[in-house]
Amino acid sequence: MTATVGQNAPTTHADLLAWVEEVAALTKPDAIRWCDGSDAEWKEFTDHLVDRGIATRLNEEAKPNSFYFRSDPSDVARVEDQTFICSETEAGAGPTNNWAAPAEMKQTMSELYDGCMKGRTMFVVPFCMGPIDADDPKFGVELTDSEYVVISMKIMTRMGADALKAMGDDKPFVKCIHSVGYPLADGQDDVAWPCNDTKYISHFPETREIWSYGSGYGGNALLGKKCYALRIASAMAHDEGWLAEHMLILELTSPEGKKYVVCAAFPSACGKTNLAMLEPTIPGWTVKTLGDDIAWMRFGEDGRLYAVNPENGFFGVAPGTGYHTNPNAMRTIEAGNSIFTNVALTPYGDVWWEEMTDFEPDSLTDWHGKPWTPEAEVKAAHPNSRFTTPISQCPILSDDFNNPKGVPVDAILFGGRRASTVPLVAQSRDWNHGTFMGATCSSETTAAATGAVGVVRRDPMAMLPFIGYNANDYLQHWVNIGENAEADKLPKIFFVNWFRKSQEGKFLWPGFGENSRVLEWIVRRLEGDAEAIDTPAGAIPAEGSLNVEGLSLDPAKLAEATKFDAEEWKKELPLIEEWFEKLGNVPDAIKAELDKLKQNLA
Ligand code: GTP
Ligand code: MN
Ligand code: MN
Repeated sequence: MTATVGQNAPTTHADLLAWVEEVAALTKPDAIRWCDGSDAEWKEFTDHLVDRGIATRLNEEAKPNSFYFRSDPSDVARVEDQTFICSETEAGAGPTNNWAAPAEMKQTMSELYDGCMKGRTMFVVPFCMGPIDADDPKFGVELTDSEYVVISMKIMTRMGADALKAMGDDKPFVKCIHSVGYPLADGQDDVAWPCNDTKYISHFPETREIWSYGSGYGGNALLGKKCYALRIASAMAHDEGWLAEHMLILELTSPEGKKYVVCAAFPSACGKTNLAMLEPTIPGWTVKTLGDDIAWMRFGEDGRLYAVNPENGFFGVAPGTGYHTNPNAMRTIEAGNSIFTNVALTPYGDVWWEEMTDFEPDSLTDWHGKPWTPEAEVKAAHPNSRFTTPISQCPILSDDFNNPKGVPVDAILFGGRRASTVPLVAQSRDWNHGTFMGATCSSETTAAATGAVGVVRRDPMAMLPFIGYNANDYLQHWVNIGENAEADKLPKIFFVNWFRKSQEGKFLWPGFGENSRVLEWIVRRLEGDAEAIDTPAGAIPAEGSLNVEGLSLDPAKLAEATKFDAEEWKKELPLIEEWFEKLGNVPDAIKAELDKLKQNLA
């Protein structure tokens, strides 16, 4: 018999109750469980996962109250080719998204959902993206048959009874349905990581719904993150006049004690989590973290843009994270209460991944569950293995993290991985030029051993996989934000590139903590205290204006890293033109910036 919502639901929200009933009737779970997000519930769920051999409890001394999961080897990342924007019209999804008609997609997925939760419990997971006491809190409810998803949502969002209570009887919420697509027949044993070869990650931007099927993995299954806080929220932001962006948020304090807020959009694996928790190498400067992946920016009463991190945890790439690159991320996870997925296990019941330490442990269990030694030809941790950890444990968390109004943004940075052409830092002339910088944001695949040139891929505002509607309309929205604001109140826009390489293929700029020098130059520019040279690609540091005191860097390399080279930029023009052709309907204000670039280069 199928479970029903019953009399015991902890809410009188009629729309929510009816929807839970409707989804349960379709998916046919054995039971329905309303999640309250309490510590007791966490303990019950994690105990249950460990007892069934699905999760491994880590060594309590190394990582207290922390759990380790191995996914099915086929279910390790976001599935972009199975991600759909189901807007009413195909034009609504635009040239960069997969589109399906909403009714057709719902038909297809309803067939998959029919009975898909048999033998399982359907968890009702109420959550809020951003502080619950915001003026216009953004609620969601995820219905899922995965306990891994429930405990991950507890870390990544404000989840449970408080969110449900704040939803009252009638507050709107985003309806999120998730199933691993692995029903259990009577008496059938579960597997460690249930999932299905058929996968759909579907978004219905007009009706603010998310339907996910077949995957248990982070970006496909924790629907508050990329699906809601970027794809659906970008559509909300477009309608309501704000911005939902793939950006870190950090607070920088100068030696004079003045605070600045910087948001930065870099494509995946291009350093957001690193920069968000930066330890400055220059004396007197401090960085505090507000977020490492997503920023929602709205206009405050004073006409400035205020940023809020809608998330409540970090879902960070594990490999490459260590005390030498991101000590604050290490301290955050060492406080425990974390989930690790597809990393390697040490014999002491702790986790390990490539480049966590400067030595490789003698013996490990790899992410496939097989014995591993340094002689092995495979990596011990999957390259996309992740840690899921509460942001409250970050030792440099900003005091404003829970401020529902957010923090006023002084500067926006766009960046990418470019071996050539793009200087270390360049300031845009104005908002539209900055929007052009974002629209043409690009990242390069690394050159092959044979020395082949890296392939440049455009990733507008680092949002290519996350814009929940037509990318041309998205760029127009950025232009409109600039038009509707007073220019001197808007954040100043910069482009940065930590990844420029020498002829020998070595990074010219040391990066990581030394990036504080670039942040210093940026805020000195805001104050009018740093000299720059105007170039067609923006204003770059004049000789001597970037603080390199105490940095042992060959001046020739510094000059290489920061230079503007007209010949390189001339080669960039056809690539930008090709990209704009692909977009098809780029706003006039952005096309005008391309024309200016051409003229200035001529
Ligand atoms: P998502 O979480 O997937 O959105 O990506 P992210 O932008 O947070 O990426 P992350 O910070 O995890 O990027 C890590 C990669 O960037 C690693 O390969 C780092 O070594 C590299 N990286 C980060 N900062 C720097 C830097 O300043 N210089 C260089 N050379 N590499 C860097
Ligand atoms: Mn990250
Ligand atoms: Mn990301």
